[in-house]
Amino acid sequence: MRIRKAVIPAAGLGTRFLPATKAVPKEMLPIIDTPTIQYIVKEVVDSGIEEIIFVTSKGKDSILDHFDTYDDLEKKLEREGKTDLVNLLKETSQMAKFVSIRQPQPKGLGHAVLCAKDLIGDEPFVVLLGDDLVDSSIPCTKQMIDVYEKENKSVVALMRVGDEDVPKFGICGGHQDTERVYTLDTMVEKPSLAEAPSNLAIVGRYILKPSIFKYLEQIDLGKGGELQLTDAMARMMKVEGFVGYEFVGDRYDAGDKFGFIQANIAYALKRRDIAPRLRSYLKELVANMK
Ligand code: G1P
Repeated sequence: MRIRKAVIPAAGLGTRFLPATKAVPKEMLPIIDTPTIQYIVKEVVDSGIEEIIFVTSKGKDSILDHFDTYDDLEKKLEREGKTDLVNLLKETSQMAKFVSIRQPQPKGLGHAVLCAKDLIGDEPFVVLLGDDLVDSSIPCTKQMIDVYEKENKSVVALMRVGDEDVPKFGICGGHQDTERVYTLDTMVEKPSLAEAPSNLAIVGRYILKPSIFKYLEQIDLGKGGELQLTDAMARMMKVEGFVGYEFVGDRYDAGDKFGFIQANIAYALKRRDIAPRLRSYLKELVANMK
């Protein structure tokens, strides 16, 4: 079955970016001039997804406003002949069909995905975490959809991390089938280095069959007293199999201060309107550091 829907959990509190996130959702913090979440939305739209389900919480209305239409503003800008800006506004609202559902309590990623159950129905879907930006020529989600279509199993995106980062991620173990594809046999949420089956970390991209909801309903609270998506996936893996895919691309952790700055610099260095000045500024900065 073709993958048409994506779930983007956006209910997190964003405490790592206080005070910026006191009144602004962390998903709306811009990388240059575009909210972080718009890069995620663009990735799924470029991968053929038609409907996007935001799982939100209190104080996140500006995410939905951002993807809404702004008729009055469009008309005003049109009258002023600012067609470039009109197109920018239209582009955002016309990217996909946007739907939202509230996660009433912060009970974890697994619970956030479970909130979307009725909106997904009986079809496979993508989950993307807003903190993980992946820059690649073929969108990471598209790469994963291709693997899903070939393997007909749920797929999780993997990336090798250093030992010091292992306890920050869901970690997978399994058999390497091809250069990038693994048949998984272990998944552990944020293990200690000693418990970890490998250095293959789960990045925030998942293609899930709808049976994941059944497993999410079966599991108990896990790490941090939260309903963990990784625990439900581990259960699913034992019954239905699960594929890990080491994606091609550069991943930025936009949920971390350093990662956020890295993403801003890396994306700016790809922008024709900014790159030349930024490159000479960075050179100058480095030269003056010595
Ligand atoms: C979540 C998942 C974890 C995954 C990570 C990727 O953790 O629970 O398995 O490795 O995202 O970013 P979080 O970072 O939200 O605590």
